[in-house]
Amino acid sequence: METKTNSANILIVDDEIGPRESLRMILKPHYNIFTAENGNSAIQLLQQNEVDVVTLDLKMPGMSGIDTLKEIRLIAPDVMAIIITGYGTLKSAIEAIRYGVFDYIAKPFNVPEIMSIIDKSIQRRKLNLKVKEMLDQRPDVSSIENPLPDSGFSSPSETKGFIDLGTAALSSSPENQNCLEFSKVLAFTLEEKDPYTSGHSERVCYYSDIMSKRLSLNPKDRNEIRISSYLHDIGKIGISNRFINKKGTLSSTEWAIIKQHTRKSIELLVPLNLSPNILSYIQHHHERFDGTGYPDGLSADQIPLGARIIAIADAYDSMTSDRPYRKPLSNGEAKNELMKYSGKQFDPQLVTIFLDILKEMEEVFMVRDHARVPSISY
Ligand SMILES: [Fe+2]
Repeated sequence: METKTNSANILIVDDEIGPRESLRMILKPHYNIFTAENGNSAIQLLQQNEVDVVTLDLKMPGMSGIDTLKEIRLIAPDVMAIIITGYGTLKSAIEAIRYGVFDYIAKPFNVPEIMSIIDKSIQRRKLNLKVKEMLDQRPDVSSIENPLPDSGFSSPSETKGFIDLGTAALSSSPENQNCLEFSKVLAFTLEEKDPYTSGHSERVCYYSDIMSKRLSLNPKDRNEIRISSYLHDIGKIGISNRFINKKGTLSSTEWAIIKQHTRKSIELLVPLNLSPNILSYIQHHHERFDGTGYPDGLSADQIPLGARIIAIADAYDSMTSDRPYRKPLSNGEAKNELMKYSGKQFDPQLVTIFLDILKEMEEVFMVRDHARVPSISY
């Protein structure tokens, strides 16, 4: 193999020499290429070499593409996997998604499309590694007894005595923009592990931001709420999907484990020197207006405004999204739930505002039965 310094390493796995060689010829001028004609050789190569991206044919004799992918995940969990499909069935595609496939390349090959997918996968790999490095370097925060103020403060502006580097930067500064971008990457990294939550944080951000705008919050507060929306469930990174996606009733122990995600989020984020407002919105997004929520049982105005906003956006998107343990509610059913729990779980004034927003969205986007969010960018 001719090595190109600073170039990504790509492993092409395909039993057929035709597609394997043509892909190699296409990618060779830009990347370091390994090839394997079956799953076993691919595994051996991965054990001996640092590989950034694997392209994998699904239909191979002996060890199938899916079986190879399962093995790959055991020895190289972070490698970017791209499936080559010519005949792919829905079942194998769904299965491939479960094992963290980044994208698909369809046969016959389209060179610009291949280059674009490979390039994107390498960019994503770099970001993932950066995030991982950062998380690995975080100090042991288990000794931090209480990284956030306990209950008893009435607004985010009253939080004092905490790391505050973020606050100074939070306006429309480049640092602020970087923080938002970084939050997105962290959220997407989490969601990649679970197809059921794909796009959740982005939609929560979308709904929250419309509410913030309707409340005429200033740009700094709006941005802090956006960042918090992306990161609100980041603590689930340390909690098994076995509990999060469990069908049926959760035991009290399992429920207690899931509830830990708010505290885990804070432990992960404290070393990043984010604004205390952001941390408080994340910590309190499961508080309930009547004081029966967690982790601190705050009620009404004790709950930071950003957390009350995110709670509604989070609940609405969760209700209208597919989950392994239940079907999504329709837009109308989800609105009824928000009304039912207005003043109990949710801030009643914010529920009124959000229902108004949904009504306007229904008129604009003709969303009648099921929530649909237009594509957005910040
Ligand atoms: Fe949550």
